[in-house]
Amino acid sequence: MHEQISNEQLLEVANKFSTPLYVYHAEKINQQYQKLTSAFADINTTFFYASKALTNINILKYIKDIGCNVDCSSINEVKLAILAGFPVDRILYTSNGIDFSEIEEAVEARVHINIDSLSNLEKFGKKFGHSYPVGIRIRPNIMAGGNLKIATGHDGSKFGIPVDQLSKIEQLIKTTNLYIKTLHIHTGSDIKDPDVFVKGIEVLFELIPHFPELEIIDLGGGFKVPYKAGDEETDIIMLAKKIKETFENHPVANGKNFKLWFEPGKFLVSACGNLLARVTVVKDNGNTVFAAVNSGLNHLIRPMMYDAYHHIENISNPAGVKKVYTITGNICETDTFGSDRDINEIREGDILSFHNAGAYGFEMASNYNSRFKPAEVLIKDGKTQLIRKRDEMEDLLRNQVI
Ligand code: LLP
Repeated sequence: MHEQISNEQLLEVANKFSTPLYVYHAEKINQQYQKLTSAFADINTTFFYASKALTNINILKYIKDIGCNVDCSSINEVKLAILAGFPVDRILYTSNGIDFSEIEEAVEARVHINIDSLSNLEKFGKKFGHSYPVGIRIRPNIMAGGNLKIATGHDGSKFGIPVDQLSKIEQLIKTTNLYIKTLHIHTGSDIKDPDVFVKGIEVLFELIPHFPELEIIDLGGGFKVPYKAGDEETDIIMLAKKIKETFENHPVANGKNFKLWFEPGKFLVSACGNLLARVTVVKDNGNTVFAAVNSGLNHLIRPMMYDAYHHIENISNPAGVKKVYTITGNICETDTFGSDRDINEIREGDILSFHNAGAYGFEMASNYNSRFKPAEVLIKDGKTQLIRKRDEMEDLLRNQVI
């Protein structure tokens, strides 16, 4: 049974490993995975964790151990997945905008591949013909996702081959004898509405007659997770029900026994992670009380990059009277984590906890302002384990030619 990590435990971990610190709770990942597998139990479905959300190798190993597969967005992620022990038939590489040599490497590694341009598809067909089954990423021209920066399926998006270029794909199949096994779409991130996935399936269903060797419908990732009070997660049970009905009601898809694939990132790892940071300065600048922490957009870029909301708690003063604060980082440009938040009284030295930091948190961190990247800790089976050391000065100099 999954038990929430308490704020007291988080505080202990912060004291032991110091801050800034990413803390992940393994069982929370499994809990999310079980939600998916149980909802889709009677549909032939496989989940590939979108590892771009968080690639620490200990997380990858854990995800492999609970039975989930892995989706990669670069050849290096493929290599990490192999190092983590995933058998190659449990690894998917969904490429975009990449040099063909990376696809050749992926073929050498024998992983599943989705291709997202006519240009690479043509090169693939010419080199591998019918010898290597491959997937095509289709751009369904559907607008979906939490905001424009994370919407990927609309008609202005760089991703995939537009569905209206079907005749060009068919031409390539004819001339190079491609073996198209998968049709893939990923319409965006933070999608709450199950009907968006149904719409996507309907676009792909129209294409079925053009791909006689089709076995897999891959709907990508994008399930929404709650970031703030009142937010709702994508209703996975409803989603599974609607998808099942869509397959059963479709005259061409019904009876074909297509396999269904998903590539969830946030859904699996967002809520498992907290970023812990120490308050360095509290200052009243007239109309705003700022609390600055020993972290910043260099460690968690989502608020500044997507205006993303991350719940913030003062875990070292839970009984403090609530006051209004704007929480910032220590980076030498505006790096607001949250504005006008009601938080238990913040004193210098307090530890703040930033929720939903598992997905695209550490993974998008940088050394901006020559600050060190945080350490990472994993709590699993009640045990706390350091899974990445904090950077040191030599990490900033590594690769610099002096
Ligand atoms: N599959 C493909 C092909 C993707 O491009 C992505 C995410 C996923 C799966 C996983 O999507 P998820 O389930 O995590 O929503 N950095 C942004 C999100 C960018 C997502 C990019 N692609 C953020 O922090 O919101």
